[in-house]
Amino acid sequence: MTIEQVRLADLIGAEERAFTAARPRSRELAVRARAHLPGGVPMSWMVKWPGPFPVYVARAAGAHFTCVDGIDHVDLCLGDTGAMSGHSPAATVAAVREQVGRGVTAMLPTEDAVVAAEELARRFGVPQWQFTLSATDANRHVIRYARHVTGRPKVLVVDYCYHGSVDEAFATLDPDGRVVARRGNLGPPVPPEVTTVVVPFNDVAALERALSAGDVAVALLEPAMTNIGIVLPEPGYHAALRDLCTEHGTLLAIDETHTFCAGPGGCTAAWGLAPDVVVVGKTIGGGIPAAAFGMTADLAARVTESVELEDVDVGGVGGTLAGNALSTAAVRATLTEVLTDAAFAHMTALAVRWTDGVQGVLDASGTPWHVTRLGCRAEYAFSAEPPRDGAEAAAADDFALQQYLHLQALNAGVLLTPFHNMALMSPATTADDVDRHTAAFTAAVGALAG
Ligand SMILES: Cc1ncc(COP(=O)(O)O)c(C=O)c1O
Repeated sequence: MTIEQVRLADLIGAEERAFTAARPRSRELAVRARAHLPGGVPMSWMVKWPGPFPVYVARAAGAHFTCVDGIDHVDLCLGDTGAMSGHSPAATVAAVREQVGRGVTAMLPTEDAVVAAEELARRFGVPQWQFTLSATDANRHVIRYARHVTGRPKVLVVDYCYHGSVDEAFATLDPDGRVVARRGNLGPPVPPEVTTVVVPFNDVAALERALSAGDVAVALLEPAMTNIGIVLPEPGYHAALRDLCTEHGTLLAIDETHTFCAGPGGCTAAWGLAPDVVVVGKTIGGGIPAAAFGMTADLAARVTESVELEDVDVGGVGGTLAGNALSTAAVRATLTEVLTDAAFAHMTALAVRWTDGVQGVLDASGTPWHVTRLGCRAEYAFSAEPPRDGAEAAAADDFALQQYLHLQALNAGVLLTPFHNMALMSPATTADDVDRHTAAFTAAVGALAG
């Protein structure tokens, strides 16, 4: 162990002791939970939170939650985007309450689905929408439709992307540029190179080589990477991507599930993108499970004309609960009354404040890290220069350092996402909430410097 590693282990140890002392009730629940929940959690990722056990939530409202030990927290994770609307926003809660009393799911359409689709079309510019319960499902359906209409086998993704638990997207490049299973990929159904072509982000030449083989049905990308920290596109990248997809007959699917943070119509509207498909999930239901994918009129027509009515329920697209009355009521209310233009202006200004706060600490302490912002999402990372692609971002990561910073923030009453160092602003977040993080970060960087 280096001196820095020993020092970090000591700092983590001290934070763990403080965490445990302050949270006897969470600890008690964690011990009890392990009898019937592997790792004491209902979903495996929840073991990744820093600290010896997870914080159990008693209630969440707006940009805060209170744990079962009565501690108030500023929530900058916001359910890793699922609660970007703020927890239980009033308009969504009212719509959901009313709908619960009127029928949750009938496998028949409601007026809310019509209004929600109209609003998504207005914002993202593609006219034909379908709903799912998760962004993962939306991406899976997009891939199926793309293979179906193009007759091509492969999916192109970006190295170190994340699009949900989508088999085709758990592929990465090895040092020799070969497509291999991403580290941690559990039980891949087939070797990933059978289904997937991987290119580094921001690499137009690699895109051209990959697409010119003529076997790629769809290129599935986040417009800016957000799942390995934020990696912004270089000027001209999106224009080249659009042109190359058109030239080689590949559909272009833009996954806005996280990048919806860029503004009311995501990066698609903010940067004038022209995808064939837009995917958006997590945020749009204000916390109620919902996601959607939108298609151009041309693609939607190709799908409709090629699927037999008799087979529409057995083709691998759709789901019994997808597009249900409750989810679409939540989407309508969240889009039209919560995640409005005015809300985005407020959220973005706070993300600027957060970024300025972090940058100020880095400058004052001479810490060679950088901070990046995309709309109302911001993130610091452990390299002096912003990365150009996912591999560069991954190389700069430091899991132990991350664990310390997240646990130290948690002990100061600030929750960051357990994956990298992301902070998200909601319509309910305040300047005081942001400043609480800046104060905690000042202390953490000071402790690291000794
Ligand atoms: C870009 C992107 N797409 C899709 C998903 C999958 O969302 P879900 O877990 O709700 O299916 C995620 C989740 O983080 C994501 O970041």
